[in-house]
Amino acid sequence: MKNIRLNVLIIGCGNIAGGYDDAQPNENLPLGHAKAYINHGGFELSTCIEPDAQKRVAFQKCWEVARGYESMQSLLVNGFAFDVISICSPTQQHEKDIQIAISLHPKLIFCEKPVTPAYETSLKCIKACQEATIQLAVNYSRRWSSQVTALSEELNNGNWGMVRSVTGIYNKGILNNGSHMIDLLQCLIGSLQIQSVGKAVYDHWSDDPSVDCVLRNQHGVPVHINVADARDYVIFELQIVTEKGVISIEDGGAKWRFRKAQPSSHLAGYQFLNEAETIHQLQSDALTNAVANIWDALTYGKPLLSDGSNALQAQLVCERIKQLATQAHSHKQTTEVI
Ligand SMILES: NC(=O)c1ccc[n+]([C@@H]2O[C@H](COP(=O)([O-])OP(=O)(O)OC[C@H]3O[C@@H](n4cnc5c(N)ncnc54)[C@H](O)[C@@H]3O)[C@@H](O)[C@H]2O)c1
Repeated sequence: MKNIRLNVLIIGCGNIAGGYDDAQPNENLPLGHAKAYINHGGFELSTCIEPDAQKRVAFQKCWEVARGYESMQSLLVNGFAFDVISICSPTQQHEKDIQIAISLHPKLIFCEKPVTPAYETSLKCIKACQEATIQLAVNYSRRWSSQVTALSEELNNGNWGMVRSVTGIYNKGILNNGSHMIDLLQCLIGSLQIQSVGKAVYDHWSDDPSVDCVLRNQHGVPVHINVADARDYVIFELQIVTEKGVISIEDGGAKWRFRKAQPSSHLAGYQFLNEAETIHQLQSDALTNAVANIWDALTYGKPLLSDGSNALQAQLVCERIKQLATQAHSHKQTTEVI
């Protein structure tokens, strides 16, 4: 138990708020906001908003939340104050929820990704938080994963030498899932520019297709991103080819394989990749580290590892990819550098 307890409101009591954790054993690391706040010990999850009465009551019971309301309007009349507001409602609701959250003057808003469905709207929301001097954390969760932090440090320290190329594969929407991949890549190898964009595949969302594309970072490193179809299975994989070996991230980040170049045992003068060292990270520490980062940001002024600026950069790239793919439906391929 920490000596500073931050009062929390959660808006939207679905999967990422707590539902994903319902199906998990208690001792597992949190996958959602409620369990992460409770496990940390420095937060008091006092209030939730959920229009579905059955869900709201179940959520309150599961996470011992004292107050539950069906809408933000019913909350406003009661004049409550919060240190932290988590926005876990559907993405289409985020703009309205951010506006109302700002009117409640919290110290920090922890918004689910994407901030809103459109870049310009997200920009407006992020600026509104800045103007109200409210910190904004955005749940591009991999930025809080200790495995990602370690890899980022290794790449920056030159442990892997130069990055030669990256290959990725994802499905279920360029904004919804693709933005996780773009954000992770921008975290690891810097900002990306679009070189070419392929075809829009509507594999889950009617307004957010999965799109294959070729990007480059500021050093010209090629990033080829391919698609699968979300109706087949979920996939999120990256392969980072470097001077000194190959790093493979599979199962959304649950499995990591590291292969290093070493002299061949049978062909003199040749370097081959060795047997992979494999790490299974069956439980992600991202949400645990996210709320710890939020507590440290509010208590000690530490910087947030994922905020409006990286969220906006990822959304800009994703939105442009989508525009180019949907504009170019009659053409085979579009090439543009932004
Ligand atoms: N960071 C991640 O990896 C990750 C993973 C899953 C979802 N998400 C994001 O989290 C958000 C929610 O996704 P989810 O999968 O939990 O959805 P969900 O449908 O399981 O939960 C959303 C909840 O919000 C409620 N709701 C609807 N309208 C509302 C309103 N006006 N005010 C308050 N609550 C309202 C719904 O009844 C539902 O219970 C989305 O923005 C999604 O993109 C992020």
